[in-house]
Amino acid sequence: MRLTDCHSFHDFRRMAKSRLPGPIFDYIDGAADDEVTYRRNTSSFDSCSLVPNVLRGVRDIDMSVTVMGQKLALPVYCSPTALQRLFHHQGERAVAAAAGHYGTMFGVSSLGTVSLEEARRISGGPQVYQFYFHKDRGLNREMMARAKQAGIEVMMLTVDSITGGNRERDKRTGFSIPFRLTLGGMVQFAVKPAWALNYLTHEKFKLPQLDNHVDMGGGALSISRYFTEMLDPSMTWDDVAAMVQEWGGQFCLKGVMSVEDAKRAVEIGCTGIVLSNHGGRQLDGSTTGFGMLAEIVDAVGDKIDVIMDGGVQRGTHVLKALSLGAKAVGLGRFYLFPLAAAGQKGVERALGLMKAEIERDMRLMGCSSIADLTRSNLRFT
Ligand SMILES: Cc1cc2nc3c(=O)[nH]c(=O)nc-3n(C[C@H](O)[C@H](O)[C@H](O)COP(=O)(O)O)c2cc1C
Repeated sequence: MRLTDCHSFHDFRRMAKSRLPGPIFDYIDGAADDEVTYRRNTSSFDSCSLVPNVLRGVRDIDMSVTVMGQKLALPVYCSPTALQRLFHHQGERAVAAAAGHYGTMFGVSSLGTVSLEEARRISGGPQVYQFYFHKDRGLNREMMARAKQAGIEVMMLTVDSITGGNRERDKRTGFSIPFRLTLGGMVQFAVKPAWALNYLTHEKFKLPQLDNHVDMGGGALSISRYFTEMLDPSMTWDDVAAMVQEWGGQFCLKGVMSVEDAKRAVEIGCTGIVLSNHGGRQLDGSTTGFGMLAEIVDAVGDKIDVIMDGGVQRGTHVLKALSLGAKAVGLGRFYLFPLAAAGQKGVERALGLMKAEIERDMRLMGCSSIADLTRSNLRFT
């Protein structure tokens, strides 16, 4: 399979599957428990239909948006995801460059394999730094100071991961960082020699956001122990309010799902919230970002930028979310499979296809700018 054969999310997923060792593919593709929420994320977009208008003079399409003070050429951005070096040796560098190429935002994860400073230099577009709340308050402060120094535009605190989700596919394959695989998992690595060669002949795997705090090489602290031992499940709104004050700029919470929490995010001075269930990887059976969107936009949409992610595979999914009032839409696996399939070229192709879909779909809807997308364009079935 070649990159030019990839025309949709499903094609990229197939190509990634053929290239990656099984445990790594399952780490990306998998979710928590029975993966009900993961499946529901994409199907939730089918709960409504688009109602097009015709003869509206839609020669020129402007799909730019402004979210948390950042002007994006596209209404989608690359949501922060962990461990990208494992998927392709170009890792975050590829995603940062591709996002920059399309004039959109890129989120670097605390568990990223390239430093936030280097990603910042590559991307050119606005950059998000995604972080977790650690028990060690000094570490939290240090991370924010480092992000400020690097010129990060948006701080994004992930609040849905105070403990790790139950990813059963990873348990079966033995996937963990540092690598410790079951025998079956090792066999699956052995049958993907091209990936192994690529992995071994490029720079060593590292986690530069955490290297001073987590010993990956010696295996002193695995990723799952990072979640259980270093993150603070007792964090409260007061703790986060103090961080928002200290940052003093664009600050957003990722993983807010209730109207009540959305209101509290406004109260503590956040400038954005991402309605997200972490791609179904945390609390299985939880609701979807798209499902909660209308209610939350109605409650706080005039006071804070409401964003959503989860299950986005098509331009029409993006149009539906924007019609309900989302200011922008996050992509996860949509760019990760292309990264795994073909590095920067893959991510660029995927974002290019998404851009073309959004443009075509807006034209077919009779909308020449994002502001034309309103609830009158939707019918719930
Ligand atoms: C492999 C993988 C790793 C992820 N790592 C992180 C992370 O480090 N921090 C974070 O806040 N979200 C992380 N996420 C969640 C994404 O940012 C995003 O919320 C989710 O992928 C959206 O769902 P989608 O993949 O269906 O688009 C990860 C998701 C995947 C698939």
